[in-house]
Amino acid sequence: MEFDRTLRRRRMHRSFTDEPVKIEQVLALCEAAIRAPSAGFTQGTELIVVTDPGRIGNILELITTEGWLRNSPTHSGLLNTQALIFPIVNKPAYLARYGEPDKADTGMAFEDAWPQPYWTVDASFATMQLLLKVVDLGLGATFMGIYHGADRLQDLLALPRGLEPLGIVCIGHPASTLATGSPSRRKRRGPATLIHHEHW
Ligand SMILES: Cc1cc2nc3c(=O)[nH]c(=O)nc-3n(C[C@H](O)[C@H](O)[C@H](O)COP(=O)(O)O)c2cc1C
Repeated sequence: MEFDRTLRRRRMHRSFTDEPVKIEQVLALCEAAIRAPSAGFTQGTELIVVTDPGRIGNILELITTEGWLRNSPTHSGLLNTQALIFPIVNKPAYLARYGEPDKADTGMAFEDAWPQPYWTVDASFATMQLLLKVVDLGLGATFMGIYHGADRLQDLLALPRGLEPLGIVCIGHPASTLATGSPSRRKRRGPATLIHHEHW
């Protein structure tokens, strides 16, 4: 798909049909994510892919409040999610990388020295590439924060302490092309209000 069209078509889909997503497509999404740039070429963003339907259901129930998914007017079709991808934020990998000899003069082997948390920046870049590849493949996805059940999710994913999911990406075939969520209530800000020339 042509790139500008891909950018314009990208939006969060919170309701899917029950049509399966091929494992090759899921892997293509992951490959797009891991091509993202990374600070010091740390390549610290790893992904956890979940395609087992029982596990997908359990995880979605775990990270939301009881009954909410089934009753939500916007998210009920999220239970048809065919794959979950967790971009994993790996802070220790970045602190270790910036302690290596070619990075020693940055003084960034310690967390307090970082101008921005590049471990989060990198996981975000990777997630964005994944979301654009979703559009390219004619699929739909939503990125959600994890507000509930983080500790139990850590165990369920067998995620070592110190590593955290950036959030959760739910993937499937979109049930609708209509905008949902905040864009259905808020206007998109235009370039004149968002782009500053020469100074703020
Ligand atoms: C950091 C971040 C967290 C988000 N968390 C959620 C969430 O928990 N649940 C949800 O339905 N959408 C979530 N979204 C999606 C946003 O609501 C959505 O991107 C925004 O309203 C713009 O809509 P669009 O992506 O469809 O253009 C999140 C997006 C971002 C970037």
